[in-house]
Amino acid sequence: MLTEQMLTSIQKVEATRAARMAQEPRRMTAEEKDALLKKFHPDYREDAFAVLAAGPNAGDKVPKELCALLLGHSRLAGKALDLAHPDCDVDVLVIGGGGAGASAAIEAHAAGAKVLIATKLRIGDAHTMMAEGGIQAADKPGDSPAIHYLDALGGGHYANRPELLKKLVTEGPAAVKWLNDLGVMFDKAPDGTMITTHGGGTSRKRMHAAKDYSGAEIMRVLRDEVFNREIPVWDFTAAIEILKDESGRAAGAVLLNMETKELLVARAKTVVLATGGAGRLHYQGFPTSNHYGATADGLVLAYRAGAKLLYADTLQYHPTGAAYPPQIFGALVTEKVRSLGAMLVNREGEAFMHPLETRDVSAAAIIRECTERQLGIETGNGYGVWLDTPMIDQIGGEGTIERRIPGMLRMFGKYGIDLRTTPILVYPTLHYQNGGIEIAPDGMSGVENLFVAGEAVGGIHGRNRLMGNSLLDIIVFGRTAGKSAARAAKNTAPGRLSLAHVEAFEQSLKEAGVETGAVSPLLLPDYTRKTNEL
Ligand code: FUM
Repeated sequence: MLTEQMLTSIQKVEATRAARMAQEPRRMTAEEKDALLKKFHPDYREDAFAVLAAGPNAGDKVPKELCALLLGHSRLAGKALDLAHPDCDVDVLVIGGGGAGASAAIEAHAAGAKVLIATKLRIGDAHTMMAEGGIQAADKPGDSPAIHYLDALGGGHYANRPELLKKLVTEGPAAVKWLNDLGVMFDKAPDGTMITTHGGGTSRKRMHAAKDYSGAEIMRVLRDEVFNREIPVWDFTAAIEILKDESGRAAGAVLLNMETKELLVARAKTVVLATGGAGRLHYQGFPTSNHYGATADGLVLAYRAGAKLLYADTLQYHPTGAAYPPQIFGALVTEKVRSLGAMLVNREGEAFMHPLETRDVSAAAIIRECTERQLGIETGNGYGVWLDTPMIDQIGGEGTIERRIPGMLRMFGKYGIDLRTTPILVYPTLHYQNGGIEIAPDGMSGVENLFVAGEAVGGIHGRNRLMGNSLLDIIVFGRTAGKSAARAAKNTAPGRLSLAHVEAFEQSLKEAGVETGAVSPLLLPDYTRKTNEL
């Protein structure tokens, strides 16, 4: 049910639509963007960050909530474990059952490794499943990996690790082909070519999609492939510490059965961490578009094992989280809605920015509209701005919304809002961690034989990721991590397992004077119903 104020404002949106459609909104200058970001982007709120007192990144600032977990105590404190008799012994242990983990497992298996996937929820029960808009790859005439590189570099504020970004874009076309060959049903024209669109900050149309449930379609196929290969999967089994061998190499993990609370020792020659992001930490009180399992576990495990983090102070607030109705507060409204033509409009019906600025700039502009300029619309959960969705069918022809973004149509339709005729209210939602664990191009972290892939990695996207480069990175770096881990496993003999690094980390907390009751990794968000947790 829309409020009176909303209905009055919608009349202004409708009244200004024709004029807005006749004129392309102006792009901001680089100076305007910088000033906007510094004043309004949440990454610049100093009081939201804390400085790490111990560990490989001591002295660096990270979000307060993450700092507490990185400097938390082990869940194993005071627990006795029989490390000499592991519960399983594999070549490659993959921790995480999303797109990156599944891709790694498939490639490690294809390389002949004995693989186990351990995932704290169920395989596929991950953020990949919730990705909507698409996957970038420069595989069309008039585009090239070099142009893709420049787009992503500019979007990332020139902070992207060049060797990682180069790998991402050069292996992009092969990644999309791999998915297509495995059976992903990408949107295609009658002649069989892929339909591609723009995303914010892209100079070419290189977003490949399966309507607006691209991630679900990709995950469907990857999960099938894992099952077809009969790769063992331990669902509801969380990793709570990395294990090392006597030479300090990663050599498995301590796992927790989330249902029985039983502790299990998994010995492996190499480990792939693919645990995803941190949206469920709700930095700065933001809602999130993230999956329930996004609690930064991989960062905690790797940090305690001695791996360095990169850019852990930079987060992505997706500009268009659903701001209304309250039942879907924070849910993702795909950027594809703007790619298809919908404009961002304030209470007075004014387009206050170009709809395809990069995400950090777009989010900051919406926050400015709702705070300093006081031109947002009250939602009951704060403020929002309009995303003028009826423009889409007017630009693309009747049926465009139904055909290209049926998921959005259904999500709002459930609450009586028909986005073909009515604009929708949006506000930034916590969507992605730009930073994460530092890796080399072969996927290895600073800890030997500990490989990382997916959102747990930092550096690929610099300080702001472009749309569609995350679905791409989980495939490119997931596959790479799997191949590298299988290769390294061939040259590694199983070692004597040790948790000495956990004790050493605990000691470093003491020496740094850290006093905390925090226990990590978190595994599930704070607001879950508590049982007899370990
Ligand atoms: O807007 C979206 O569909 C999100 C895509 C992404 O984060 O890459």
